Amino acid sequence: MNILITGGAGFIGSNFIIYWLKKYARDNIINLDALTYAGNLANLNSVANLPNYRFIKGNICNSRLVSNIIRDIDIIVHFAAESHVDRSITDPGIFLETNIYGTHLLLKAALKNKIKRFHHISTDEVFGSLLLKDKNKFNEKTPYHPRSPYAASKAAADHLVLSFCHTYGLPVTITNCSNNYGPFQHPEKLIPLTITNIIENIKVPLYGDGKNIRDWLYVEDHCRAIELVLKEGRVGETYCVGGLLKDVSNLAVIKMIFRLLQGNENLLTFVPDRPGHDRKYAIDWSKIKRELGWQPRYSLEACLVKTVNWYKNNRSWWQSLKNRQFQAYFKKQYPDL
Ligand code: NAD
Ligand code: TYD
Repeated sequence: MNILITGGAGFIGSNFIIYWLKKYARDNIINLDALTYAGNLANLNSVANLPNYRFIKGNICNSRLVSNIIRDIDIIVHFAAESHVDRSITDPGIFLETNIYGTHLLLKAALKNKIKRFHHISTDEVFGSLLLKDKNKFNEKTPYHPRSPYAASKAAADHLVLSFCHTYGLPVTITNCSNNYGPFQHPEKLIPLTITNIIENIKVPLYGDGKNIRDWLYVEDHCRAIELVLKEGRVGETYCVGGLLKDVSNLAVIKMIFRLLQGNENLLTFVPDRPGHDRKYAIDWSKIKRELGWQPRYSLEACLVKTVNWYKNNRSWWQSLKNRQFQAYFKKQYPDL
């Protein structure tokens, strides 16, 4: 089978490529990635020389390039996106371009080439925010209510994907997953930022009162969910994918990381809240469990240990990302630190 992965040099896409090639050694993968600040070919060192893996540097908004690449493709797994909420607050334009317009161009090319499956990777952020005290969770029937430019762009993309299924019969599936963590995540995101700042003895910024809740999903569990949806998911359906059964606040996650690293807790610094900061996400993953037999295999406690160890053992990987450009971003994003 020939699979086109978009955004495969990013965090989840690279984990997925490694996961897939280990299991399906006869499949061919083409990885189309623009290598923005978030794309990193070092993530793919372990597969770079395989004869059935090929990297193409390019933008999903380049329709001629996409048309050329897509000719012999059976399946598209679409990860490519601008993915950081904070950056979408500072500069929404590029989110609309890549996440909406780029997705639309890929859909058109997929339709023209009679692709057998277009799988779109989306987020729980399209559903908006729960209250801290809410007992209910997001599921596939929850109305969309995106509240950041990032979430709005992903919501628009989801609607477009489904519209191509309903209007033109394109065989699509969507997964709406919660916050991933694990190896190869860019240090701008909460968990890697916390780990690497503690190691470097730099202040760790926590927004607002630190009580916001995310539903943490280990990236390998997510890859397995995508695999199952590709193999057995029903066309035209969305599947919600989450990692936790109980609520865990950002402060609790950060404190776990401080304990694992025996870090100096004085580094923990409360900073002004993110504008429009969603209070809580929680996913009801009973549909994917019932239909496809998926459930998370890994606990947050065990996987935070794995993740912390990975960042401890791969210092050169993240140090090269915390370059001058990142320092400038960090200063601008956290002026109080
Ligand atoms: P990431 O930011 O780490 O990687 C995105 C990748 O896409 C990068 O390699 C980047 O170079 C590439 N890219 C960006 N714009 C492109 C363009 N125009 N053309 C081609 N390539 C381009 O993101 P991630 O965390 O790996 O997220 C992957 C997908 O999963 C995204 O669609 C995101 O919305 C979704 N998602 C992520 C999370 C999470 O916790 N990380 C949670 C839910 C959903
Ligand atoms: P993030 O990793 O940016 O993912 P998302 O905004 O997509 O959920 O943030 C996860 C949570 O951590 C979110 O509630 C915002 C919070 N956060 C901080 O408190 N400090 C930070 O420096 C960052 C980046 C995030």
